[in-house]
Amino acid sequence: MDDHPNNPDAAPAATVGEVPASGLILGIESSCDETAASVVLHGRQVLSSVVASQFSTHAPYGGVVPELASREHLRNIVPVVRSAMAQAGVRFADLEAVAVTEGPGLAGALLVGVTYAKTLAWALGKPLVAVNHLEGHIHAVLLEHARRGPAAMPVVALVVSGGHTHLYLGSQATAEDGWQYRVIGRTVDDAAGEAFDKVAKLLGLGYPGGPWIDGLAVHGDPAAVPFRFSEVRPRVSRQRPSPVTTSDPDLLFSFSGIKTAVLRYVENHNLAPSITARIAALAAIPEPTIPDALALCDAETLGLIASFQRAVVDNLIQRTLAAANQYGARTVLVSGGVAANRELRDRFQRLTAENRSAWTGPVLFPSRALSTDNAAMIAAAAWTRLRQGMLAPDSLSAEPRLQLG
Ligand code: KG4
Ligand code: ZN
Repeated sequence: MDDHPNNPDAAPAATVGEVPASGLILGIESSCDETAASVVLHGRQVLSSVVASQFSTHAPYGGVVPELASREHLRNIVPVVRSAMAQAGVRFADLEAVAVTEGPGLAGALLVGVTYAKTLAWALGKPLVAVNHLEGHIHAVLLEHARRGPAAMPVVALVVSGGHTHLYLGSQATAEDGWQYRVIGRTVDDAAGEAFDKVAKLLGLGYPGGPWIDGLAVHGDPAAVPFRFSEVRPRVSRQRPSPVTTSDPDLLFSFSGIKTAVLRYVENHNLAPSITARIAALAAIPEPTIPDALALCDAETLGLIASFQRAVVDNLIQRTLAAANQYGARTVLVSGGVAANRELRDRFQRLTAENRSAWTGPVLFPSRALSTDNAAMIAAAAWTRLRQGMLAPDSLSAEPRLQLG
């Protein structure tokens, strides 16, 4: 390929000022268990979005194994980028910039994407933009709704994934300005996606747990088990200041209690034998599907699954709308892997469409494909940063604990 970065002709020592503004950004994402690349035009038109997931690698362990994730990223990154470029029908020389997730995430996984992106940008003589994965999730929503015009400000953004359950207050003064974010709520323990994953594992379902619970919950009675979220109060002490920037307990989440409540239910109702049988039966199926799992769940188990999902969804909606009210938001954005959940999407939309909540503005979700990790969201978030001249330094590294706001 003429435009391959290994070709010395493709590596002129161009400065940022000399690079023609094609508007094309190649985004690269490798923060957890998905290797992704995407080409996005002007931060809003997705020309390609390729995601290689590692579910089958981690499924036997019921969670992501960091060393295996890094190895899979290393294996996948070159073919995934080549495929994204080919699907978009653009050459490396056409790119205006390369963008990459710098954090948060698994250190070894992030390093694969960051090292690859730095090398590619350097070889091509193109600018490199570093993107916060959480800002990426927020931009997955903005990207897909951009053609309807900019979101009314300020926004309250719920980012709900395997590693985060955070509420942000976000705004952008004008379309040319950068976004500002402030944390206004967060989980004090597990993330919601983590609770989906742990409960699915406990019940002998597949990994990641969210899609399994989502697919099975519609077959159960959501009122079967009356789960309750006890009030969560921030623990503020002089010696150990709270990591939570809000003092409002209404905007804090906690999901470790419900996970324990599911475990107790399993113990008290003697569900262990049926769970063991389900694990063995699913292990014997080469690529088990939701109907396979459904055939292995009795009404009591389906009721437990539906009740768990209903409780988590109710809690996410209630706190997000409380935040929107409290901060005078004009738009609510919901993103991250759990935003793919059909009950969360349906209930949010119905509540606001029917004017049944105190807050009645628009609630925007990404498509289900762009809810979970992808690189289109990284390229989209990079667009504003690139326009602002916010380029990554030569010393860019992986930032596993990077925060937003
Ligand atoms: O955003 P994401 O792909 O990766 C992280 O940044 O963590 O989110 C992954 C999380 C997992 O916990 C997964 O179980 C959850 O999102 N998830 C879902 C659904 N699809 C993925 N949770 C509930 N319902 C779903 N349909
Ligand atoms: Zn994510």
